[in-house]
Amino acid sequence: MPIQFLKEQQLFLLETDHTAYSILLASHGQLLHTYWGEKLPFPDDYPGKPLNVAHSAFGTWGNDLASEFPVPYNVLEIEPCVRLRFADGTRDLRLSYVEHHIDDDSLTIDLKDEFYGLTLRLAYQVFADCDIMTRRVSLVNTGHDSVRLDEVLSGSLLLPDDKGDFRLSHLSGAHMVEFQLDREPVQPGRKVVEGRQNYTGHTNNPFFAIDMTGPLGATETSGEIWYGGLAWSGNWKIVVEQIRSHRKRTRVAVGINDWDFEWELKAGETFETPWLVFGYSATGFGPVSRNLHKYQIEHILPARFAHDLRPVLYNSWEAVFFDVTEAAQMRIATKAAKLGVELFVVDDGWFGERHSDNAGLGDWEVNPVKFPRGLGPLIQHVNDLGMMFGIWVEPEMVNPNSNLYRAHPEWAYHYPNRVPTEARNQLILNLSRDDVQEYLFGVLDSLLANHNIAYVKWDYNRAISEAGSAEAPATNQREHWVRHYQGLYRLVDRLRERHPDVLFESCSGGGGRVDMGIMAHFDQFWTSDNTDPLDRLPIQQGFGLAYPAKTMFSWVTDMNNNAAPYSLRYRFLSSFMGGLGIGSNLHHFSDEQMQEAAHWVAEYKRLRPIIQGGELYRLNPLDDQPERKDAYAVGYVAKDKSQAVIIALDRTSHFWRNPRRLRLEGLEPNTLYRLSGDLADREPGQLSGQALRTRGILPRLEGELAAALISIEKAG
Ligand code: GLA
Repeated sequence: MPIQFLKEQQLFLLETDHTAYSILLASHGQLLHTYWGEKLPFPDDYPGKPLNVAHSAFGTWGNDLASEFPVPYNVLEIEPCVRLRFADGTRDLRLSYVEHHIDDDSLTIDLKDEFYGLTLRLAYQVFADCDIMTRRVSLVNTGHDSVRLDEVLSGSLLLPDDKGDFRLSHLSGAHMVEFQLDREPVQPGRKVVEGRQNYTGHTNNPFFAIDMTGPLGATETSGEIWYGGLAWSGNWKIVVEQIRSHRKRTRVAVGINDWDFEWELKAGETFETPWLVFGYSATGFGPVSRNLHKYQIEHILPARFAHDLRPVLYNSWEAVFFDVTEAAQMRIATKAAKLGVELFVVDDGWFGERHSDNAGLGDWEVNPVKFPRGLGPLIQHVNDLGMMFGIWVEPEMVNPNSNLYRAHPEWAYHYPNRVPTEARNQLILNLSRDDVQEYLFGVLDSLLANHNIAYVKWDYNRAISEAGSAEAPATNQREHWVRHYQGLYRLVDRLRERHPDVLFESCSGGGGRVDMGIMAHFDQFWTSDNTDPLDRLPIQQGFGLAYPAKTMFSWVTDMNNNAAPYSLRYRFLSSFMGGLGIGSNLHHFSDEQMQEAAHWVAEYKRLRPIIQGGELYRLNPLDDQPERKDAYAVGYVAKDKSQAVIIALDRTSHFWRNPRRLRLEGLEPNTLYRLSGDLADREPGQLSGQALRTRGILPRLEGELAAALISIEKAG
């Protein structure tokens, strides 16, 4: 049973295959957190009481520091999950238990503030075989007056206080440098990791992992880790805070960012937060990633394509930028087809007066000069070559130099008495407006209905400014942050419902909008505008920590930020680590390069079921300074353990270097596997799964920027 209420102990017990979480219903109707960690054999093994806390008039009293959902009453030292104002100015909440419901793997617990008539429903879900749990909260105003919400987080997680000192791992970055791993000790005080620019953000990603410092620190295969993330693409925050209360107490509060947030909860209305996804690993960072990946593939990604392999795509953006015309795209499509590409994508530049980033966004009609016969003949040509056709859009944006803006300047976010600030010459449309949503649904629906389009790349290319609108009342302007994303998710879902066979990719100047919220509406992600094959490795490492390979698009392009002698093999193998794309200017490829590229595409297709459908194993320690490593190596193991693949990319080469053996977990210990590909001299041709895990193998990595690919298959 994944969820039980143990009557005698008054304990809610949530269990996955290997983990457990428990909440005490205390005598005064409060919910107190008592356990988060490894699953234990018997219910009596779990602590029936929260950890002891000090009683002092200067701190939080009673057991409130162990509250399952801290709210402002007397808990003022820690991040509350709710801050609000009732109509009479009262700013505290007195909640007590009303009832709960358990339905197999989901639990709701209702608490109520009787005086003001506000119900708070805590919801939990258990995904037992993923070792993942989720939680969120709904506030229902059952009173007569509006309540002003200033903060509503999805949850606050209390970590054990007797483990030692903690270390936080999180992902930060910038445009072209996404998903860099950062690590730091958790200290008394608050550390806030957040997004507040109306998109998930390049700066931070809503993911955290906490393990221990020093010798107890986790590796890929050992050590305890408490981790999680938020399923939301608008403003978000993760607060890691520690207070000294005799012992150090550490909490992680996660949810929609309260920065510039406000919500009027009218009588009878409900406010629901996004899901906080969380997990515990007793065996290192490897399972953190594999559990998240499995959960996301089985329970978040849109079902239509969740289990399908992603097609190999070609996109000419980095080759020709805005210079897309029917004739030129046809010529390059013919070459792409020769490589074995399955999906040909026309990127930015096909619509309106879009000759540069100065104009056209908002006018989603085909440019009549570039495509005098419309898109039909190009699509037909692409389909005749055996490829699907895909297209780029950026629906949430508008250039002031566009027909749409000239007709509806009020549709862009703005303040009435301020000149709107442009970034990349564009403004953001107010998706909280129904008319804006209707317009976008109309133009995109007809684009998809009138063309044989199999894929949409949906971009979002600026951070916000002037997040206001003349339409919304002055007191409710701060609701836009949430309403924008409610509108976006609704819009994409409507389009998907009408066009169920279209694959949707989320892009935001590269990997600016990658999170578990948008993942419920999009099938894959553009990872970074930085496509240099060496720069990509730490970006891909960070992406893979939280999100699965089949959603991580990686292109082979002509970018070379490091003036490095990259071989085509190196460029391809760097891109093999996710979904494969090609963005090189194929007119610059020699016949030999075309042949070699076709070989690599065929090789990728052979290995794709293992890479996209299997499980990820990092073969180097997860590292916040991966550029210091000699080589970067990952393995993918097929679900049925019959096959695996190892990709190892060298960064530097020194004759004194002691090459590292690569040790791959996850195979059947007593089964013999045949090894082929780039093995160092004198490495065996076959090994048992156990030997692959313990003695490992040595790849052949000779010379600067060498790249090795090793295939592993059950022998016999
Ligand atoms: C963003 C994307 C690129 C490309 C351009 C088009 O920067 O990340 O891949 O689509 O927009 O303008």
